[in-house]
Amino acid sequence: MYYPDEVIEEVRLRNDIVDVISSYVRLSKKGSNYFGLCPFHSEKTGSFSVTPSKQMFYCFGCHEGGNVISFIQKYENMTFGEAVRLLADRAGMSLPESDDRAAREKENRRARLLEINKEAAKYYYSLLRRPEGRHGMDYFLQRKLTEETMQRFGLGFARPSRNELLNYLKSKGYPDEILSQSGLFNFSEKEGMTDKFWNRVMFPIMDAANRVIAFGGRVTGTGEPKYLNSPETLIFEKSRNLYGLNFAKSSKAKNIIICEGYMDVIAMHQAGFDQAVAALGTAFTSGHANLIARYARERVRQDEIARYKDVLICFDSDGPGVDAALRALSMLREAGLAAKVINMQPHKDPDEFIKALGAEEFQKRIDDAENGFMFTIRMLEAEYDMKDPTGKSRFITDVCSRLVRIEDPVERENLTGLIAYRYDVSVNSINEVTKKQALAVENVRTVPVPIPTRNTGKGINDAAKTPQSKLLSWLAEEPDIYAVVKRYISADDFADPLCRKVAQILFAQLEEGRCDPAGIFSQIDDEEEAKFVAEALHQSVGNLETVQIRETALKDLMLNIKRLSLTRSDRSDNDFDTIIKIRKEIEQLERDRIVLQ
Ligand code: CTP
Ligand code: MN
Repeated sequence: MYYPDEVIEEVRLRNDIVDVISSYVRLSKKGSNYFGLCPFHSEKTGSFSVTPSKQMFYCFGCHEGGNVISFIQKYENMTFGEAVRLLADRAGMSLPESDDRAAREKENRRARLLEINKEAAKYYYSLLRRPEGRHGMDYFLQRKLTEETMQRFGLGFARPSRNELLNYLKSKGYPDEILSQSGLFNFSEKEGMTDKFWNRVMFPIMDAANRVIAFGGRVTGTGEPKYLNSPETLIFEKSRNLYGLNFAKSSKAKNIIICEGYMDVIAMHQAGFDQAVAALGTAFTSGHANLIARYARERVRQDEIARYKDVLICFDSDGPGVDAALRALSMLREAGLAAKVINMQPHKDPDEFIKALGAEEFQKRIDDAENGFMFTIRMLEAEYDMKDPTGKSRFITDVCSRLVRIEDPVERENLTGLIAYRYDVSVNSINEVTKKQALAVENVRTVPVPIPTRNTGKGINDAAKTPQSKLLSWLAEEPDIYAVVKRYISADDFADPLCRKVAQILFAQLEEGRCDPAGIFSQIDDEEEAKFVAEALHQSVGNLETVQIRETALKDLMLNIKRLSLTRSDRSDNDFDTIIKIRKEIEQLERDRIVLQ
């Protein structure tokens, strides 16, 4: 459901951000802002800020930020529309029916695709239980699945025929046009549409709301590919879904287990571990890590400290599995989670482990899961010649450079002790090397470098863009300076595309005599972009005590922006006139004295 801009604005106006966030996070006032513990990453000091004047939130630790609607989206894991509805309810507003035709059309299409996937799931499911599906049934039985498990996961069978499902769905009245978008069919010039899945046992993939959104199909003998998955469609985004999450999200277990495959999830659930999930048809991504982080955060906050479930990685024991575990560990750490790793040796994966040794032994492995950091450095050993003293001391230096990045001092101390014990080095020398490494890192940090994980090129975290975002932040805080700014700067002058977009929106607001920075987020769809905007608009303008300092600072900022504007890479040589014009404006600005009251 999509709503007109005025309605969204009304929803925001009627839901004060401090009010709303206060019901999730304990906030205390410091100056004109409020601070609290960030609900989006684990921390012990409050880096999470809420600014009533801008109606925005921003975390200085994990850089999440946005307006009241994006807060609800992230906290409650809701879509934009769902968050708007929640907030409208909260304010006692009734929402109009959507009148955006394109949006309604898209919503319709999604509903139809969900219907088609559900029909297909029912079809495969019933085939498995008919004589024609015997082959599939035998396969699942041979893999030791119970009837109850097959039912719970809605398992099915696709017959060795190229157009059974197609004919079935056509007979139900679905036109080719929508069927072709379902991901269930292949298309070739010669044959037209044919079933994508045939002669495979079928695993429907469900979203957290138990709706079938895609399928995985496995060959029952040998054959390539072993698993075939639905492509991404309007209703299936691989990085936003985890197999098994529909059950795992309400598991009572104190942990969440991430594994690699369909059969691993199913085997674990069958053995009573209903907290298992897997990323499917794709590697584990940061999208998955964020999804896990949301569910790992138990909603018990009696003591105002967010409680996390343990996150356990249970990937295959082979080389690729270990590499994948290392990558997943670092993505989970970025999402604020310190995960552990389950050792399944001598078996390959949880499915085989449980079949061989049973649930009780598996529970022991869960209890013995290794700290993710210790796992990482154990794997790191292979890169050094540990028998050679120089090799070992290089290894320890490498370990220390990783220790530096652990923010929690208690955790760091514990790990230091463990490392000292395991590698027979004194705690003192580890601390000494760590301190040296910390200083090296500190020196690098004083130079403004972009944060490495966000090298999308869209960010404002880059020295050249700072004046642009600073001016925007200043305007958001003190709309009165717009009267002066507009004499020299237009939105077009912003060289960075994202800053330019923000400037266009903000300047349009200021022209109408209002200032609503939080409203900017309604017009920015990309999540990463929204983070940068939140970060930009939360910058402090600095300590501008006297009017003279303010005037000089503003002039300086504007000159900076104007000069940068000349370098806008998307200007072609034909824009010669524009360039001459900007040069004149720069000269004018250099001569003028800026006057602020
Ligand atoms: N996978 C895939 N496409 C493939 C192979 C694997 O999408 N061609 C995905 C599947 O989700 C699979 C997971 O990767 O479940 C793990 O693959 P693998 O380790 O090869 O298989 P197992 O999980 O051990 O599957 P099984 O036990 O059924 O052999
Ligand atoms: Mn397996």
